[in-house]
Amino acid sequence: MSAHLLSVDSLSRDYVDHLFDVARRMEPIAQRQKITRVLEGAVLGNLFFEASTRTRMSFHSAFSRLGGSVCDTTGFTFSSMAKGESLYDTSRVISGYVDAIVMRHPDLGSVAEFAAATHVPVINGGDGPGEHPSQALLDLYTINKEFERLDKKLAGAHLLLTGDLKYGRTVHSLLKLLSLYSPMQITLVSPPGLEMPSDLIDRAENAGHRVQQRDTLQADFSDVDVVYATRIQKERFTQEMVEGFSLSSDFSVDRAFLDQRCSPHTIAMHPLPRDSRPGANDLNVDLNGDPRLAIFRQTDNGIPVRMAIFATLMGVDEIFDRDLREV
Ligand code: CP
Repeated sequence: MSAHLLSVDSLSRDYVDHLFDVARRMEPIAQRQKITRVLEGAVLGNLFFEASTRTRMSFHSAFSRLGGSVCDTTGFTFSSMAKGESLYDTSRVISGYVDAIVMRHPDLGSVAEFAAATHVPVINGGDGPGEHPSQALLDLYTINKEFERLDKKLAGAHLLLTGDLKYGRTVHSLLKLLSLYSPMQITLVSPPGLEMPSDLIDRAENAGHRVQQRDTLQADFSDVDVVYATRIQKERFTQEMVEGFSLSSDFSVDRAFLDQRCSPHTIAMHPLPRDSRPGANDLNVDLNGDPRLAIFRQTDNGIPVRMAIFATLMGVDEIFDRDLREV
């Protein structure tokens, strides 16, 4: 494991198991039942050059709950990159100000380029259509917790990933992460042109998973344990693609889909944001209040998992719970 978290490629099964153990122990701190100051005096640079609600705020919250403080910058307008400063110079300068960096950037590979110029740990908060490793970690942590509640096992499970599998960086990282685990069945359902990249499918198959591709949700998914829906990432489309694209209701994950095509114990996940504008069918609001909808348990899990990421990257994973204070 490198000092950075740039891609799931750098993660081992042992590291992920340890991270999830640390995240479990972080939960009382994440919920402010207990307080630690283990990162007191440390500063996080939270650099978001692309829109975000969850990743930006949950990393900020996670670092604060460990006792650290946070410097934020959002968008290019208020950064000197707007004056032509390079990623290299920006990275080298900021690494003199902070002890860790989370960065989101619209360009594939940009966060790795940034990390190459700094000596402090860098976490990839999303690099264009590339990866979003912390999201995959909180997704798998959520699946494990949901399966524990439902008395299910990850080994042999059936996961359905649907939506924009081409540009959706969360599903790229998740499929890579699942390749560290025991064989399972993975069904990929996407509109034509938005299929999962073939190298990621090959990797999952080489890991022993049975992978099937389909182009509609109008089928029997009664043995599916998890439906993981994603938003169509139109911001990554060319103008020509935007004009020619309309999402068929065949891809709608809604109450009727879960009731009629899945099982009563199928859970619905989504990295969020879901698109609530007319014509968007990624995950319908008619599932709000349905216990099968795990999306807000998923966002809640983002805090302890991101706290655990900081703890492991900054070397306090063995000591953070030595001097906990009760609230
Ligand atoms: N899941 C996720 O990355 O959400 P944000 O874009 O709001 O950070």
